[in-house]
Amino acid sequence: MNLTPTDWPVTKMANEKSPIGVFDSGLGGISVLKVLAENFPNESFVYLGDTARLPYGSKSGETIQQYTEQNLRWLAERESKVLIIACNTASSHFQGDNYQGIPVYNMIAPGSEAALQVSKTKVIGVLGTRATIQSQSYVKKLKELEPEVTVLSQACPMFVPLVEEGWNDDPITNLIVFRYIQSLFNKNSDEQLDTLILGCTHYPFLKNAIQKAVGSAVQLIESGDALSLSLKKDLELGRWQANPETLTEPSTQIHFASTDRSDFFENLARQLLAPLVPHQFSLAHL
Ligand code: DGL
Repeated sequence: MNLTPTDWPVTKMANEKSPIGVFDSGLGGISVLKVLAENFPNESFVYLGDTARLPYGSKSGETIQQYTEQNLRWLAERESKVLIIACNTASSHFQGDNYQGIPVYNMIAPGSEAALQVSKTKVIGVLGTRATIQSQSYVKKLKELEPEVTVLSQACPMFVPLVEEGWNDDPITNLIVFRYIQSLFNKNSDEQLDTLILGCTHYPFLKNAIQKAVGSAVQLIESGDALSLSLKKDLELGRWQANPETLTEPSTQIHFASTDRSDFFENLARQLLAPLVPHQFSLAHL
């Protein structure tokens, strides 16, 4: 294990060469980080996994807000020029589009827009943590964008532990996924659900199991792709500045930090990040 023993120094002066800050409660946000790193090969990233306090999905709104604020502050203090809330649960409990003047992106709007673009029947399913589903963040956003939409929501509290355990491809995972999906379809059997939002950044790692359970006619929406598009649009509009230099050494692209250190997490993070390799693992003190 090569986690550095102490946190790295605080600076507040972000500039165009500064990293993009990304956080999640744990390792799920890696699904978003990978898409961003691929789409923005010249940007560097600092990823914060709040592994000491995972899961967020079963916590109260107040606690999630407090954790979100602490994570944003930590990333802002590490010079992030853009802040990505790569956690739907935290996204559902953060209002606004900036933190101390730094642009903030959440997962809810891009995922909703992408789902509405592909859905023909306008019957859209949302899978998420309990806190995300209870917040109704997707229902509100989808209805704001398309008042005629029908939204079927299903909380899947057992999915996150499966991913954090590394059981992405496992017969037990298939059974659990099937059971939640069945409940989703039971909610409204006569309507034609054709699109399903994976409303938790851990869920793309269970994509194969979820696709098997819903069948090939249902289109799965991963918010990482949609978020990437919205970042590209905003870059053109000048909301944030690209790194003017070419990142010649890809291994310097990702700095990975977590609030709890363990060999297990680090190994799993490495597996989920592959083929990307973070150049540094650190322990973050919030
Ligand atoms: N990955 C987080 C999300 O997108 C949730 C994980 C958790 O419950 O902490 O909602």
